Amino acid sequence: MKNIVILISGGGSNMAAIARTAEQQDWAGRHGIRIAAVVSNRPDAGGLALARERGIPTAVVDHRAYPTREAFDAALAEGVEAHDPALVVLAGFMRILTPGFVERFAGRLLNIHPSLLPAFPGLDTHQRAIDAGCKVAGCTVHEVTAELDVGPILEQAVVAVLPCDTAETLAARVLTQEHEIYPRAILAHLLGRRPVCDQERQAGSA
Ligand code: GAR
Repeated sequence: MKNIVILISGGGSNMAAIARTAEQQDWAGRHGIRIAAVVSNRPDAGGLALARERGIPTAVVDHRAYPTREAFDAALAEGVEAHDPALVVLAGFMRILTPGFVERFAGRLLNIHPSLLPAFPGLDTHQRAIDAGCKVAGCTVHEVTAELDVGPILEQAVVAVLPCDTAETLAARVLTQEHEIYPRAILAHLLGRRPVCDQERQAGSA
């Protein structure tokens, strides 16, 4: 079995979309992939209940119980490692990870970010996109490296920014796209697939 551990801090809609897709597409039966655990740094994260409803084991590593970022990350890494993860998926996990944590899970750590990286790393991405006058916005799945919101891009989706958009309406449309691309990128990454371009496809069928 290839285990996925999902880290959340909040509502967990991306986590739920990944779990739903895994179930619908029978990732366990077809690919030997399962979501082994959902771990939150916040005991009140809404996503914990969603995970439990789906029968996914949950754990909390409360960052407030640790004196330093390093101590928290060490405890988090231990909790994650206990599930022998093939992939660690950040899904609305709102803590900056230390280089030590990132190094430990290098090559098996993915994040989704609500902007078209490399534009708008960090917070308030939707308001910043509106303020800048962007005509398109979107979301990005990328590998996590030591630098925040930098790292090889695996998938992106684009949405139009409408003249009447607020940060909330834009976020809602982008979130719908996040739910599409994150499960797809996770499966492709775990199966070692890369996108095939049209020329390659034609050459393959020739
Ligand atoms: C998502 O929009 C995700 O892209 C964003 O938090 C939201 C979590 O929603 N992540 C970040 O901003 C990370 N820098 P969810 O808890 O419903 O999946």
